[in-house]
Amino acid sequence: MTYSRILGTGSCLPEKVVTNHDLEKIVDTSDQWIQDRTGIKQRYIAGEHETTGDLAEQAARRAMEAAGKGPEDIDLIVLATTTPDQIFPSTACLVQSRLDIHGCPAFDIQAVCTGFVYALAAADNFIRAGNATCALVIGAETFSRILNWKDRGTCVLFGDGAGAVVIGASDEPGILSTHLHADGDYAKLLHVPDGVSRGYDQVQQERAFVEMRGNEVFKMAVNTLGRIVDETLEQNGLKKSDIDWLIPHQANYRIIRGIARKLQLPIERVVVTVAEHGNTSAASVPLALDVAVRDGRIKRGEMLLMEAFGGGFTWGSALVKY
Ligand code: ACO
Repeated sequence: MTYSRILGTGSCLPEKVVTNHDLEKIVDTSDQWIQDRTGIKQRYIAGEHETTGDLAEQAARRAMEAAGKGPEDIDLIVLATTTPDQIFPSTACLVQSRLDIHGCPAFDIQAVCTGFVYALAAADNFIRAGNATCALVIGAETFSRILNWKDRGTCVLFGDGAGAVVIGASDEPGILSTHLHADGDYAKLLHVPDGVSRGYDQVQQERAFVEMRGNEVFKMAVNTLGRIVDETLEQNGLKKSDIDWLIPHQANYRIIRGIARKLQLPIERVVVTVAEHGNTSAASVPLALDVAVRDGRIKRGEMLLMEAFGGGFTWGSALVKY
């Protein structure tokens, strides 16, 4: 039986840091409110000409270096983003060219904040089915581009960045299971109402911004993530105490703490980057993973539970023996 395992991780953040105090100057908010409600202290924002592809490329290069893999080794690229560089080609294809990788399948996945978990699941299934042997999986966003900087309810929450992993075929299980879900009935609680097919003029009038009913999203996120943690443990016949590290989507510290409590996991065993990164959507989980791998917290052989929830609604998890 063929499995896939994580061979290397990488990430990239833009240079520009925007603190809560910086935001106090543009919307009616306060550092205190943002920290109390979300745990966020700052976020990174892409430069004027910096794109999702730029961040994705750097994260991918670092992951390939960590994995000891070159362009000739990669036979699949899956890139999760809500903020592609262009309508087409996919950002995966743009990054493929920059990395000097040719011929292998490359495609984008759109599942908003759950995007990386979806992308990882897709790549894992390609490898398990024998259709790829070494995949580059990227979550990358310039979410700042779709924020209404006059809406204090959303603009304080998000940031830009990219994270990537290289996964390779293995006889030993690495990715033990992935669990994906969606329910489009909740689309309007968290969405960008405009889009290409609904009217390009509107996009040009800069109305393609995130709209969110935060309170309702919050409640759904807590309940849904609680359920997917149970589902993941149950399907693998594991106990809560078998999890070494929780690597959650970094939307809100209060949601993260709730899930850690449910798992009876001390907060020290949870990778938390929301204070520094804000919510980077599809980039949040692989960014957090890379931070904790590189600072030496996550070690080979440990059991990792990744989970995410986002627009759609979409939600999912991945259980990984690192
Ligand atoms: N600064 C100051 N006050 C604010 C701000 C702000 N930035 N934003 C909202 N407020 C005010 C509101 O206007 C409201 O004022 P009112 O009581 O006078 O009407 C008050 O604060 C409370 O607003 P709520 O929305 O009820 O605040 P809540 O405690 O729910 O926190 C938050 C808001 C942080 C957005 C929270 O609901 C949340 O985290 N939601 C989930 C977001 C999430 O998980 N997203 C995940 C997916 S993201 C993706 O897929 C793209």
